[in-house]
Amino acid sequence: MNSTAEAWNDRELQRAATLAKHVRSIVGADSRIFAARAPGRVNLIGEHTDYSGLPVLPIAIDRSTIVVAAANSDREIALSNLDPAWPSRRFPISKNIEPYPTGDWANYVKAAVQGVIDHFATRGHAVDRMLGATMLVDGRVPPAAGLSSSAALTVSAAMAFMAINNLQLDGIDAATMVARSEWYVGTRAGGMDQAASILGRRDHATFIEFEPLRVYPVPIPADAAIIVADSRQIADKSGTVRAEYNRRVVECAIAARILGRALKLDNVRILGDVIRNFERWNSRDLLRVLESNAPARLGADLNEAAAILDESRSALENDVLGVGANRIALDSNRPLEILRRTRHVLSETERVMLAVEALKSGRLREMGDLMNESHRSLAEDFECSTAQLDRLVECARRGGALGARLTGAGFGGSIVALCESSTAARVVDRLRQEYYANLADSLPFEESCAVLHAGDGASTIELAAA
Ligand code: GLA
Repeated sequence: MNSTAEAWNDRELQRAATLAKHVRSIVGADSRIFAARAPGRVNLIGEHTDYSGLPVLPIAIDRSTIVVAAANSDREIALSNLDPAWPSRRFPISKNIEPYPTGDWANYVKAAVQGVIDHFATRGHAVDRMLGATMLVDGRVPPAAGLSSSAALTVSAAMAFMAINNLQLDGIDAATMVARSEWYVGTRAGGMDQAASILGRRDHATFIEFEPLRVYPVPIPADAAIIVADSRQIADKSGTVRAEYNRRVVECAIAARILGRALKLDNVRILGDVIRNFERWNSRDLLRVLESNAPARLGADLNEAAAILDESRSALENDVLGVGANRIALDSNRPLEILRRTRHVLSETERVMLAVEALKSGRLREMGDLMNESHRSLAEDFECSTAQLDRLVECARRGGALGARLTGAGFGGSIVALCESSTAARVVDRLRQEYYANLADSLPFEESCAVLHAGDGASTIELAAA
């Protein structure tokens, strides 16, 4: 993983110094102090494709979480946050760290520490030889806004814990290690957010492929501006959003299995497994196969799906819902939307491939069209937009954006808009007048809507003695 100071700007170094002062006042002035910084991300295109093992095109943003840490001799994580809204926590490091109740912010740090412990346990670093850490967090990625504040926290905490224990990993291995950290808190997320946070590069978008994880930086044309606007509708993944998200994961997994069986492919779990079997494919043909092998909707009790797949229902349940404490509970009153979800994921994958080429060659208008089409597909087929997100997208387009779409999981959170740099101020102004001026809350506009720049991925530094 990166251990370079280049990615840190003066403001971030200042933040780290302030945190270090607090940490030294707890652990003593002589302790070695490490600072890990990890950015949030905005996804340009490739939404709800990562957990199907299909590509995405995010940027790491210039807003980050910083964790400053020092070793302690208590073999525990003593965690606090500069923002008093997030209460201090303390937990022992052990082979299996029990999560706090759902919704507790410190679960993201537990997920990080557990991820490091699991990864290094298989490489001969026993947990009982690992040191505990006193950690202080300063998060500046807005929470629940679809900008991956949770990945920024998980990644920075994992890196800080590794630094304390003198453990190193390159970026790809680190991103693979933390990819499943959201599973710890019960969301079956893919690995996009963590990979973008770790492997992002300044002035570049990151084309990310999964299984195996690979990244390719794509330069963002100099005349392009990226605007992010928060609907202020909370997309908190610990509540109903999680249930909706996990439901989508199940719908896609069942579709993959039906396609796999129809096409006589082995070991298909996710849609990416289907596509990897073909040198050339297109969404239309695959959708036709799906349509002729299953109804568009299937019962959420999985009976019909099991019959189509010629499997026992309980085996299918264990496979797609998981086992143990984080087994997905489906609301059985609504059918699973197999065809529409698949139509989104496959067409979105085609759009990602086109978007990479469009961006590389500076064809911003084409990139914008693909983003618009992505939003339509997310709203109609994936059903994860909201009236507020649709309104923001419309405002951005009316203001002159070339394209706009929801970004992240949706169900609230933010939109991303692409425009020519020369029109950015006009788009922002339009959003202010048409969307934010009518909101009742008193949050500063600048915190919700801004031109963001692609920043560098995560890195760790050791801070000099006081
Ligand atoms: C969330 C998840 C990601 C990804 C997006 C949707 O941000 O954490 O893994 O699935 O939703 O694209």
